[in-house]
Amino acid sequence: MNVRYDLLSPELKSTPYPAYADMRRNAPVCVVDPGGLWAVSRYDDVMFVLKHPQLFSSRGFGMATNPEWLGGNPFAESMLAMDPPEHGRLRGLVQGMFGSAAMVRLEPRVREVTSRVVAQLPLGRTLDVMPSLAMSIPVEVMGELLGVEPAMRPHLRRWADLMTGGVTTVRPDEHERKRIAREAVAEVRGYFGELLAARRRHPGEDVLSQLLAARPQGEALTRDELLAFVAVLLVGGIESTVHLLGSSVHLLSKHPELLGQLHADRALLPAFIDEVLRIEPPAQAVLRTATQELYLSGVRIPKNAPVLALLGSACRDENVFPEPNRFILQRPGTHQLPFGHGIHFCLGMPLARMEGRLMLEALLDRCGGLESGAEPMSWHRTLVVRGPATLPVTLRTV
Ligand code: HEM
Repeated sequence: MNVRYDLLSPELKSTPYPAYADMRRNAPVCVVDPGGLWAVSRYDDVMFVLKHPQLFSSRGFGMATNPEWLGGNPFAESMLAMDPPEHGRLRGLVQGMFGSAAMVRLEPRVREVTSRVVAQLPLGRTLDVMPSLAMSIPVEVMGELLGVEPAMRPHLRRWADLMTGGVTTVRPDEHERKRIAREAVAEVRGYFGELLAARRRHPGEDVLSQLLAARPQGEALTRDELLAFVAVLLVGGIESTVHLLGSSVHLLSKHPELLGQLHADRALLPAFIDEVLRIEPPAQAVLRTATQELYLSGVRIPKNAPVLALLGSACRDENVFPEPNRFILQRPGTHQLPFGHGIHFCLGMPLARMEGRLMLEALLDRCGGLESGAEPMSWHRTLVVRGPATLPVTLRTV
């Protein structure tokens, strides 16, 4: 009899990869906890799910993040939770805002943020680099992009968390957590509602002003559509990037030889980031709903089943990535699966990679060594996201 895996158990939270390997071998499509989701673990099956939105709908994201007690959630109405054709109409609008030309314009501002954050880190004593480094950078960058004034930026991550994990992990009797989530949604609506009104009066260079000017099919976006964009950018732009940055520092503190290689040749930085993303994907899974009964790896999935395509497992599938558990700096080929695939492919991939590269450049300028602190690190895990929660590290001077 197969074991029933619990993806949020303490054991899988700290390292899910042996369980994923077991699933790929023995139970490539199986029901897991929490929630009786149908987990899909092999690379080919994960790709099949992502390539067929007509068979695997994204509407489940919306249902999971907007339970009845919440009374509405802008994130649940975003394009991430949409299927064609609605998805395409909205996606087309923002595509250019995060493309390569936009990134060239944005790079000096992101470099200013990463240099400032890294310059503030103390050297020679242990500190938790998650709040001071890994969280600060994406929050500051998304704050810049959305035109949020500095004093309000500390709220951005809290809002992003509460609109997602702060809703999906609430049990029926947790009334206080429900109140906190409702309040967060009201705050997002209130704050960004006012910011949008201000940008309507005085347009600027920020993403909100561009969204206000957009006319898909000749019509301006509605207030709810604008707020849904804000929500998906906050959630997409902050949480996963935090974990890319945290995992990069974690790997460097565990493997000083890698830091030496990067010091010797900065052209290796993009390859380093890609391999960090493969070996520790911040988005471990994407959620879908089967629109009809179908078979994957010979297993029958019923109609309306909630399906979890495990990117974290697919990225270590031995049939695609030889020696999948080894960090190979110059692994041949380009693999973008950590950013998804198909119509919902991550909009922010160039931005996330740029934040990673510029943070590492600033660290290389300032630090000759990175050592793990005496306290062990800990892991954060939701159904979708995984990465360091706390990461004590000592930075040494060059
Ligand atoms: C390392 C960092 C990141 C990772 C690993 C990541 C991963 C992903 C993945 C796997 C998806 C697909 C979800 C699905 O198929 O259901 C996605 C979608 C998305 N991401 Fe990212 N992301 C990252 C950073 C960013 C950033 C910086 C932004 C902000 C600009 C962003 C914005 C989005 C948006 C808006 C979508 C939805 C696209 C759509 O529905 O068409 N992401 N991301």
